[in-house]
Amino acid sequence: MRFKDKIVIITGGARGIGAETALKFAENGAKVAIFDLNIQGAKETAAQIQRGDGTCSTFSVDVTNREEVQNAVEKVFREYEKIDILINNAGTLKDNLSGQLTEDEWDFVLDVNLKGSFICSQAVQKYMVQQGYGKIVMTSSQAAVGAPGRVNYAAAKAGIQGMMKTLAIELGPYGINVNAVAPGFIETEMSKVSEEYAKRRGIENFTEYKKAMIQRNPIRRVGQPEDVANVILFLASEDADYVTGQVIYVSGAPVV
Ligand code: NAI
Repeated sequence: MRFKDKIVIITGGARGIGAETALKFAENGAKVAIFDLNIQGAKETAAQIQRGDGTCSTFSVDVTNREEVQNAVEKVFREYEKIDILINNAGTLKDNLSGQLTEDEWDFVLDVNLKGSFICSQAVQKYMVQQGYGKIVMTSSQAAVGAPGRVNYAAAKAGIQGMMKTLAIELGPYGINVNAVAPGFIETEMSKVSEEYAKRRGIENFTEYKKAMIQRNPIRRVGQPEDVANVILFLASEDADYVTGQVIYVSGAPVV
């Protein structure tokens, strides 16, 4: 119960890494609020948490919409009178080679991943500053070091690292730690979208793509949502009180 009565906001908790993270926080005593576009999925995660006697509320929020984010954050604060932890997990892809990438594809991916994480971090900041305590965990990606066909996503996920370090410096004096996880290939609905991307590189289907990823990985497996959730929980816990401004790659491989 290392998060007993901690109030945690998780964006993108309707499925994948976000859902697994929400479940783990709840199992450890936290009260969870999920912000997601996919309200049906968010409610399914909440129902799973409630079946285990946990507490979870859901909010239909587009993280790129400042008003929706602020309203939901205020509701969480009114309900619990504090916000301890923010997990910026919502993310999306729109792959294309840089020569063909449209402005809309660029804006969409930068808005959801980078601006969305900023809007949410800004919205919780005043509450965390007032209470002199907070933990913010961002979700970057191994793609931050460069990934063909993902110029928009790589820019967003590298941008998240710069933003995270800046927030860590600005907010440290107020008792707020800001860190990031950078997952490698994690088996979720999002990674299935990569099939298209794999096809362009001559790999036939998702199974073949996965095999190729496993062969390249020193640990010889792809990642699961739980692998990332465990590290997010560590960074949000008191065990990481003296850790801030750091990126932990959760990729089963050194990242250069
Ligand atoms: P996913 O696609 O399974 O889940 C993403 C969640 O974010 C969904 O519930 C979706 O509805 C929500 N979401 C998307 N746009 C949103 C918006 N504008 N407002 C609110 N919610 C929104 O993805 P997955 O795999 O669980 O990824 C979670 C995070 O991890 C993302 O930030 C992703 O970029 C990152 N990541 C994932 C990797 C992977 O291999 N799966 C690798 C590296 C990073």
